[in-house]
Amino acid sequence: MYHSADKAKTTRMNALRDRAQICTRCGLWESRTNAVVGSGCLDAEIVLVGEAPGRTEDESGLPFVGRAGKLLDDILGKAGLSRDDVFIMNVVKCRPPNNRRPKKGEVDACERFIAEQLDIIRPRVVAPMGNSSISYFFEKHGLGKAVVGDVHGGEYEIEGGWGVFKLVPLYHPAAAIYNRRLVEELERDMKRLAGLEGP
Ligand code: URA
Repeated sequence: MYHSADKAKTTRMNALRDRAQICTRCGLWESRTNAVVGSGCLDAEIVLVGEAPGRTEDESGLPFVGRAGKLLDDILGKAGLSRDDVFIMNVVKCRPPNNRRPKKGEVDACERFIAEQLDIIRPRVVAPMGNSSISYFFEKHGLGKAVVGDVHGGEYEIEGGWGVFKLVPLYHPAAAIYNRRLVEELERDMKRLAGLEGP
């Protein structure tokens, strides 16, 4: 699920996963099979943040393993990256019924998990994918309201608790399944992101 050269990081993420698995801070716990905290490298420079688990993710406990995940793997590969090089997570850890968009209160309930995950990994680049994730990060860091079509591929320097990181909004891979033009945009943005130096 995830790996690190630093045992303390794995211990912290395991404890977080155990807490998420029994979390009842919003109503999504009632229909979840698994809380999906994320996968990949806890020493990664790049963290990709999607919206919320879908059915396949809820069943497997792993993020982005359905159709959108296959496309994401492909796009990562074209940028010279694999899942092992990055950490992949969602703003909301439990599946919303019928894959509806998560509500603000559900994102707020997960905020402590998101903040702690970033504090464990301490990435140089955070890439929110799609409007739910972009809105969360933009509001949290006082960047106002934004839609992905206007801000994708941009770079915003943010002071995190662990140092400065770059926020780089991306299209959500699921949106690109239905609009092939977005695949090209996502590929271009991901390639640039893969080459970004930390601040
Ligand atoms: N869509 C997301 O936003 N996250 C997943 O894990 C799967 C699909």
